[in-house]
Amino acid sequence: MKGLFITFEGTEGGGKTTQIALLSDRLKASGRTVRVLREPGGTPIGEEIRHTLKHSANNEAMTPETELLLMNASRAQLVREIIRPALERGEVVLCDRFYDSTIAYQGFGRGLEMTQVRSIIDFAVGNTRPDLTLLLHVPLSVSEARRHSRDAGAAPVRDRIESAGREFFERVERGFQALARAEPRRVVEIEAAASREEVGAAIWKAVQPLLSS
Ligand code: TMP
Repeated sequence: MKGLFITFEGTEGGGKTTQIALLSDRLKASGRTVRVLREPGGTPIGEEIRHTLKHSANNEAMTPETELLLMNASRAQLVREIIRPALERGEVVLCDRFYDSTIAYQGFGRGLEMTQVRSIIDFAVGNTRPDLTLLLHVPLSVSEARRHSRDAGAAPVRDRIESAGREFFERVERGFQALARAEPRRVVEIEAAASREEVGAAIWKAVQPLLSS
């Protein structure tokens, strides 16, 4: 069986985690072996990089250039340690974020030069590209509300990236929209403010045609 690489993208609060679990269950029920991963992270090295990027007490001074390189260091490791071997075994790989997040957050959001951003991504991933990208779209107000409700937890964990301002997330959102327009065959936009079941059904409709080969 041919391996299949599916990525989930979108601003925070779009319900990616729930939908990845739902899709994973459906794929397993149809007889496929599924590997669920997240970025940054997904390997022991990547999880350490994730901590540095998001929660480390020492990350306040991080520059956009460092952020770009760390995201892609985690990615280079994940691609070679996990994704390529899994695809070669014919598994389905579901990844919570991949390089479209770099284009949206570090390119559009931080304003890094796009040709350089793309060449660093190319170095990190080589030919390992998603077969399908599901872009979960929620209005910015919903995304913001979900981010803030997480912050209101008993012991909120500081997150350097999520603490950016509204304009940053508006640019990120515009970046995702531009990506969906530029690559409509790969990037399928899903309206994620609908119910869990409706969103799950829309995702399954996009995935099913890829399962026969
Ligand atoms: P999350 O796993 O909770 O979505 O956190 C990952 C954070 O990292 C999220 O704020 C988006 C951000 N991110 C980037 O800025 N660039 C990237 O390339 C990736 C994969 C994530």
